[in-house]
Amino acid sequence: MRQPLVAGNWKMNGSRASVAELLNGLKAGMARVKTAEVAVCAPAVFIPAVQAELAGTPIKWGGQDVSVHASGAYTGEISGPMLADFACHYVIIGHSERRAYHAESDELVANKFSAARAAGLVPILCVGETLDEREAGVTEEVVGRQLDAVVAHCGIDVVGEGVIAYEPVWAIGTGKTATPEQAQEVHAFIRARLAAASRSVADTVRVLYGGSMNPNNAAELMLQDDIDGGLIGGASLKATDFLAVCSAANR
Ligand code: PGA
Repeated sequence: MRQPLVAGNWKMNGSRASVAELLNGLKAGMARVKTAEVAVCAPAVFIPAVQAELAGTPIKWGGQDVSVHASGAYTGEISGPMLADFACHYVIIGHSERRAYHAESDELVANKFSAARAAGLVPILCVGETLDEREAGVTEEVVGRQLDAVVAHCGIDVVGEGVIAYEPVWAIGTGKTATPEQAQEVHAFIRARLAAASRSVADTVRVLYGGSMNPNNAAELMLQDDIDGGLIGGASLKATDFLAVCSAANR
């Protein structure tokens, strides 16, 4: 059985005050979350505060990006060992916003995946097609290419140590969620693609859905066979909403 994972992606949001309030709200409400593993991926400057508040709770934390380098003259970058030093468990890799606004190629994303693993972090690898790509009928081609790049670079067993997040770009922050059927179709494709390299990795790796997941649609999405939780942007910024999404995985 794959334990569902619900990970918050705070993106570039928050202040010391709002982060403190959000973390307090999460800690206070965790009793209602029965089944899912819960994590928050915070902007780097807030990670020390997140660690201070969440250490000793069931909530894990992580970063939103990682350098391919472990240390050195790379101004502005944050390395895997730095994230690990603050007890990060997860790191988001290859989010579509980084692919689009920071020109992250499939190859760079694959390198980041291995840098994360080298530091002992669990990468959450984001894949997904744009609206143009979906309308052109190339969703599987795009998602397959994004996955294959990481499998080729890291090997299927290392991919199996991470988490995959299917995030259709057209559903991110738009309020337009993929229907459960649309999402399940791509999740099943992702699992089949991985199964071509390793049946056991395909059976055990968690594949999250991301893109306007919220308290109203989370339960139905998470009921799909191949959806093992969510990567939550907007709805992860309010404790009540995020906890509602997390408890939608209760079984
Ligand atoms: P959203 O973002 O939930 O705000 O659509 C999800 C994500 O980008 O990870």
